[in-house]
Amino acid sequence: MTTKMSLPYYISWSKQNAVATLPIASNRDCTMILEDGQELLDLSGISFQAGFGLNNPVILKSMQEQISSNLSLCSPKAQFQLKDEMAQKLINLVGFEGKVFWTVSGAESVEKALKMIKLATGKHKILARKRSYHGATMGALAATGDWRHDPFFPEGSDTIRIPEPSDDPDLTKTRDLISQHGPENIAAFIIETVTGGNGVWVLPTSWWQGIQDLCDEFDIKLIVDEVVTGFYRTGKAMGFHHYPVKPDVVCMAKAITGGFAPFGAVWTAPWIAKHFEDNILACGLTNYGHPLGLAALSGVFKLIEDPAFHVRLKENIEIFNQKLNQIENHQNIKAIRKLGLLGIIEHKGKITFEEYQKVGLFVYNHEGDAILSPAMTMQPSELSDGLDKLIKVICEKSM
Ligand SMILES: Cc1ncc(COP(=O)(O)O)c(C=O)c1O
Repeated sequence: MTTKMSLPYYISWSKQNAVATLPIASNRDCTMILEDGQELLDLSGISFQAGFGLNNPVILKSMQEQISSNLSLCSPKAQFQLKDEMAQKLINLVGFEGKVFWTVSGAESVEKALKMIKLATGKHKILARKRSYHGATMGALAATGDWRHDPFFPEGSDTIRIPEPSDDPDLTKTRDLISQHGPENIAAFIIETVTGGNGVWVLPTSWWQGIQDLCDEFDIKLIVDEVVTGFYRTGKAMGFHHYPVKPDVVCMAKAITGGFAPFGAVWTAPWIAKHFEDNILACGLTNYGHPLGLAALSGVFKLIEDPAFHVRLKENIEIFNQKLNQIENHQNIKAIRKLGLLGIIEHKGKITFEEYQKVGLFVYNHEGDAILSPAMTMQPSELSDGLDKLIKVICEKSM
């Protein structure tokens, strides 16, 4: 990274007078090529979106064909075959009957999920975790529990913060909170199936069972945020497929287009679709159901419907597990958490982005620890070599 003081645009999540940028020239497969010719193997899928590499020919071809088709933009109310087909495929991927609302990002998916659930239940409070990130728009930020929430909601919001699963494994405290606030006021839980950027916390099946039981007992709805975990990132089509839950709403974005188009979607259960048959759906976006987003999604479906993708994914998950398990007991390691091709290595001390860059790696840095979410389509030998380099940096660093 280099520091540029006077850019004519902002860099996100940074103090602008000391911001580090990555001067990039182009991408090849899963490798970024910087302006000075340095090559960085992307072990984090940029910020989780690049699940199919940085230059995927199948997704790009699908988008190029759409551009050549004379249907590159249209009215939000437009109906066309690609839109119909992609909605049906998404419904099948989620695994339950339902209906899709299209969005343009993860935050917009969360935003629309919250609005739809509040409108459809007539209730306004939302249960959410402290260790969570749901997006940077105001509604999504209200649900978010990390440092980005507080400056905007000094007097609180309609979010009720539930105890962390480790402090409430049988959900007794969560049950008490529900009684205290009144289930008649609580619309839904919103939960990332595996916490992404806030530390890859994989939650016990018994905790998820407890959440589903509370939903059933008190008629509280369940929104799962699959923005990071959707589209096979955890080894299954959706992260929630690992757990005994039946969500009412599923938020998707990022890998929905492999990151090649700003796009997202919300799956909603049939009872929500039924509600909006006779009630106005007060949600909309100019770029609703954008043909280029749909075309990118169509490319993603071409990839994930190919049995070769699943062979590659399985092989990469095996490599990932084997490499990370091998250092579990190393003196520098504090904890490793992972599911599928999503993981965090927590170690003593901190390792900077630049230390990984020096050895040719692009790694998502979470408070000095490495969050890994490599492209699912990466060449296994490339993944193996990249992880060896990463492990060397971590294990050889004097902490
Ligand atoms: C779990 C989760 N939900 C929502 C979002 C927001 O997505 P976007 O940045 O596309 O708005 C993110 C972004 O990192 C995320 O990790």
